[in-house]
Amino acid sequence: MSKELIRLVNCSMAFDDELVLDNINLYINDSEFLTLLGPSGCGKTTTLRIIGGFTTPTAGEVLFDGVRINDVPPHLRQVNTVFQRYALFPHLNVFDNVAFGLRIPKAEESGETKGRKKKKVKIPESEIKERVMEMLEVVSLKGFEHRHITELSGGQQQRVAIARALVNRPKVLLLDEPLGALDLRLRKDMQNELKRIQQQMGITFIYVTHDQEEALAMSDTIVVMDQGKIQQIGRPEDIYNEPKNAFVADFIGESNILDGIMHEDYVVEFFNRKFRCLDKGFAPMEPVDVVIRPEDIDIVPEDEGQLKGTVTAVTFKGVHYDTIVDFKGFKWLIQTTEFHPVGQTIGIVLNPDDIHIMHKSQYSGMFGDYSSYSEEYDEMDDVTLLDEEDDEEDRDHEE
Ligand SMILES: Nc1ncnc2c1ncn2[C@@H]1O[C@H](COP(=O)(O)OP(=O)(O)O)[C@@H](O)[C@H]1O
Ligand SMILES: [Mg+2]
Repeated sequence: MSKELIRLVNCSMAFDDELVLDNINLYINDSEFLTLLGPSGCGKTTTLRIIGGFTTPTAGEVLFDGVRINDVPPHLRQVNTVFQRYALFPHLNVFDNVAFGLRIPKAEESGETKGRKKKKVKIPESEIKERVMEMLEVVSLKGFEHRHITELSGGQQQRVAIARALVNRPKVLLLDEPLGALDLRLRKDMQNELKRIQQQMGITFIYVTHDQEEALAMSDTIVVMDQGKIQQIGRPEDIYNEPKNAFVADFIGESNILDGIMHEDYVVEFFNRKFRCLDKGFAPMEPVDVVIRPEDIDIVPEDEGQLKGTVTAVTFKGVHYDTIVDFKGFKWLIQTTEFHPVGQTIGIVLNPDDIHIMHKSQYSGMFGDYSSYSEEYDEMDDVTLLDEEDDEEDRDHEE
């Protein structure tokens, strides 16, 4: 089942000397749900277009089943695409939209005609009907076949676009932010629906999104991209629990990211204290980035804490409170179901498996400090603003 299907080898793409994809190496297994995730402009669509055959990389190879396909045009690849702006035919009904591709005569690919002039084959109308109805069932649109496209909701139109792509029985479906135009509720429903369709049909989905929640919810594998480079590839749990660098830690979920020093295997220092952790293999005294997820921090009475801080802002989020806590001028986000008022001094306890260590990277120092977050609140309140200035002084005279 997990047989390799597609591989990008050292793929780069430049537009007018601007490198937008920088040496991408990636393989995609048969029947996998793989998501390309990253901020706008990081190169997701370009990667998808290379796989679909709409763009040829300026360097590198695209392999399908081990065979180089750089020069194979899109319609001869076993790949179909659903774009964000799914261009359905407004003058046709649902059935005819889905049947459209099946009614175009195809060149016969069987062994007997090989080498000779290729015969064009038409699929019989009875088979077309069977395949279209089967697909409408898969996307939960049975009974809608005579409806016009203009009479459908956005979500239903998206389903038609998916049925239209799947009816050709591609080995791979490429989806470029297909839910981008839908409202949040519908997006969530469609995420479940897409996952179900992918599992039911057993085909490979390569999905593009900038929405980390969407990626975590649907994917077998996530490829995190930034600035034309792959930052990390892994299962959703691995990407979340063991981000490779500060970019990934910040982009996937919320993270407090601190400067630390790795003393030896399993021992890290930050805030002038040593903590036990589960990480090893770093150089002695290597400067590192330390990630602590807001939901992993236990708040305890101040005299029982490993570190002591002061609450500077609290926001109720339904399930928990986003609590901003100042530790010697560095502000952490802590998510807790208990309410701790602004001004309260609290202690925190960190367990070894709540601490994750990363090598320093070009992203170090750019993310994971919640100072600006709480300053938004401070600006509304003159008293806290004065406290802020005191803090600044403290920091300058740090022990
Ligand atoms: N045809 C093109 N000509 C010039 N630049 C392009 C072209 N297509 C994409 N780019 C640039 O490549 C970068 C990556 O684009 P894209 O792959 O669309 O990113 P994403 O889908 O992640 O938002 C962007 O800086 C974009 O402006
Ligand atoms: Mg894009």
